[in-house]
Amino acid sequence: MRSSSAQTGLAFKDRFEEGATNNIAHDVLVGLRSEQKYIPSKYFYDSRGSRLFEVICNLPEYYPTRTELVLLFSYATDIVRGFAHGDLVELGSGANWKIRTLLQAMGRSQRSDVRYVPVDVSSSALKQSAADLETMYPELRVNGIVADFTRDLHCIQSDRPKLVLFFGSTIGNLDEREASSFLECLAATLNPGDRFLLGLDMIKPTEILEAAYNDSRSVTAEFNKNILLVVNRELRANFNPDSFEHVAFFNEEEERVEMHLRARRDIWVQVRKVDASFVLRKGETVRTEICRKFRRISAEKMIHDAGMEVSRWYTDPKGWFSLLEAVRDRG
Ligand code: AVJ
Repeated sequence: MRSSSAQTGLAFKDRFEEGATNNIAHDVLVGLRSEQKYIPSKYFYDSRGSRLFEVICNLPEYYPTRTELVLLFSYATDIVRGFAHGDLVELGSGANWKIRTLLQAMGRSQRSDVRYVPVDVSSSALKQSAADLETMYPELRVNGIVADFTRDLHCIQSDRPKLVLFFGSTIGNLDEREASSFLECLAATLNPGDRFLLGLDMIKPTEILEAAYNDSRSVTAEFNKNILLVVNRELRANFNPDSFEHVAFFNEEEERVEMHLRARRDIWVQVRKVDASFVLRKGETVRTEICRKFRRISAEKMIHDAGMEVSRWYTDPKGWFSLLEAVRDRG
C-alpha cells in the first residue's frame, strides 16, 4: 500500500502494486493462445491510452460521452438529493468530467460530508483527476483505489451509505458471463438504501455505432494499437503496430461493437518475458475489445438477474444512451 501527499488528504491504495490482481502475463498468454486471439481491453489504459481515450471522448463521432454528460447535467440534482454521510464510489473513473456534474449539483456543505472513492486501473489518470478535484473542491475527501474492479469489488465495501457509479457503458466491455458475475458481486456490496447508477450505450443504427469506433482522425486506431505498445513494454514483446490494421464493426447478432487488430502480413511475435512466441497469419485478427450495446429490456433483465431492481431510468430524446439507477432486490 502506498499513500501519496498525506498533507492534501489523498490516499491511494494501489492493488496492482500489491501484486494481487494484475496479471498481464497470464491474461495475454491465455488470450494469444485462444482460437480467436484476444488481449483484454483493460490493458488499453496506460497513461498514453488514458490520454487517447480522453481525446476519443471529445471526437464528433464519439457520441456516448457527450450524451451521458448531458443526462448527468440534466438529472444531477435529482440523483444527489438527500445523499448524506456517504461514499460516492466511481468504478473506472478515468477523468473527472462526469463526477463533477454530481459534485457541482451538491453544493459545498453536502460535498464536505461525502467521500469520493474513484476506482481505476490507471493510477496516472486516478492521481491526476483526484488532484484536480481537490483543487476544485478543497472540502471534498478523496480516497482513490487503483484496482481492477471486475475482481476487486470487495475493496469498496463500507458501512457508509453508498452511491456506486459506473459510467461510460464500460460494463459493455464485459461479456454476458463476466457482466453477470460482476453485477452479482456489486449487488452484494449494496446495503439497503444504497444505489447503483449505471451508464449504458444503447442499440442504434449501425452507421452511427460504427462511426463512433472508426473516427476520421484515426484516434481510435491509435488507441487500439496502443495496447500492443503496452504488451511490448510490460512483457518485452516485439509487436510492430504498423503491421496491424484497426478494425471496428457492429456485430448485430451479438449486439456489440468489436475492435480488432488485423495482421497485414504473416507475423511472428516474441513475448520474451514469458518465453513464448506466436504466429499470426496475414488477415488474422487479435480482438482487443467488445462493447456491448443494450436495449431497455435486456438491461432490466441483466439487473434483475443479478438480484437488483431498476428504480430509475434516464435517457436522452433519441434513446442513444441511458442511465439506470438500481437498488438491491427486496428478496
Ligand atoms: C470506455 C470502454 C466504454 O467501449 O466505447 C472507445 C472505450 N473503445 N473507443 C467504449 C472505447 C474505443 C469505451 N469504453
